[in-house]
Amino acid sequence: MKTVRMFAFLALLVVLVMTMTACVAPATTTTAPAAGAEVAATEAAPAADAQAPVKKDKYLIGMSQANKGEPWRQAMNDQIAAAAAAHPEFEVVFADAAQNNAKQVADVENFIQQGIDLLIISPNEAAPLTDVVAKAYDKGIPVIVLDRKVNGDKYTMWIGADNQLIGQKAGEYIATWCKDQGHTPCNVIEIRGLEGATPAKERGDGFRAGIAGNPDVTIIASQNADWLREKAIPVSQAMFQANPVVDVVYAHNDPMGEAAIISAENAKIDLSKIAFVGIDALPTPDGGIKSVMDGKLTVTYVYPTGGAQAIDWAAKILEAGEKPPATVVLETEEVTKDNAAELYQKYGGK
Ligand code: FRU
Repeated sequence: MKTVRMFAFLALLVVLVMTMTACVAPATTTTAPAAGAEVAATEAAPAADAQAPVKKDKYLIGMSQANKGEPWRQAMNDQIAAAAAAHPEFEVVFADAAQNNAKQVADVENFIQQGIDLLIISPNEAAPLTDVVAKAYDKGIPVIVLDRKVNGDKYTMWIGADNQLIGQKAGEYIATWCKDQGHTPCNVIEIRGLEGATPAKERGDGFRAGIAGNPDVTIIASQNADWLREKAIPVSQAMFQANPVVDVVYAHNDPMGEAAIISAENAKIDLSKIAFVGIDALPTPDGGIKSVMDGKLTVTYVYPTGGAQAIDWAAKILEAGEKPPATVVLETEEVTKDNAAELYQKYGGK
C-alpha cells in the first residue's frame, strides 16, 4: 500500500514538472527561411517574437555591421540611420567589425551586455556568427539578419535580395551575350566574394545555372578576392596574365568588377571586346549604375541593402507586437546601358 502511494505521488510529480516545463520553454519549432522564396511566414512563433510588446519611451537597437569600409555597407548604415530618424523613440548604436568575425562576435556580446531591445546584424561570415546570434535570440532579443545569412533558424527574420536569382540572371545575360557575339567558346573568369559569406556561394551557383543554356560558355578560372576592390586588382591581373583569351569577367560585386577593368586597362587589353558583369548597382557617382552609363561595366544588378526595411520591421516587432515573416525577399533589377540613366534617377542618384 505504501509503495502504491509512493508511485502515485511520483507520477503526480512527473506530470507537474512536465506541465511547468511546457509553460516556460520557448517554442523552437520555427521553419528555416526558404532561400529564394517570396515573402514567407513562419509557422510557429519563435521565442523572441512570441511575447506581447512592452511599451517603452526609448528602444535601443544594436546594428552590427560586417565592414564599414565598403561603400555598399556604408549605404546600408546610412539607410538605417535615415529610417530611424523618423522614429525619435529609437536609438541605434552601430558597431563595425572591420571584416573580422571575432570582432563581430564581441560586438554582439557587447550589445547583449548593453541590454539592447533589438539586434540588426549583417554577418561577415555565416558559421562564425551563428552561435552569438542564437545567444541573443535565446535571450529573447528579436534579431533581424540582413543580406548575408547565418546558419540554422535561431533569429527572428532575414531580409535581403535573392542572390541565387541575381547570379542566375547574370548567367542568362552572359549566355545570350556570348551567342550574340558569336563566341565559341566563350571564356569567363569569375572573381568571387568571401567564401564563408552566403551570397558568394549563391551568386556562384546561380550563375552556373544561368549559363547552362549555352554550352559554349565556360568558366576557365575562378578566384576569390573577398569582395574587395583592392584585393581584386592583383587577383584579376594574375588571371588576365594566365588566361590570354577572356571574353567575360563575372565579378560578385561592382568594386571587384571595377578592379578587373583597371587590370585589363593596365594590361592593354581591348575593353570593348569583354563583358564586365557586377552586382550592387549603387546610385552614386562611383557606383555601378554610373559605371554602366559610362560604358565601363556591361551589366550590373540592383542589390538593395534592406536598411530601411529593417527599421520598418523593428517598429512593427517592438511597438506593434507583429509577428514577422521568417523571410522578406527584396527586389532586384538588371541594369544595362538601355535603362541605366532611368534607374539612376529612380534610385535617387546624385
Ligand atoms: C559589401 C558587399 C557587397 C555585396 C554584399 C554581399 O560588403 O560585398 O558589395 O553585394 O557585401 O553580402
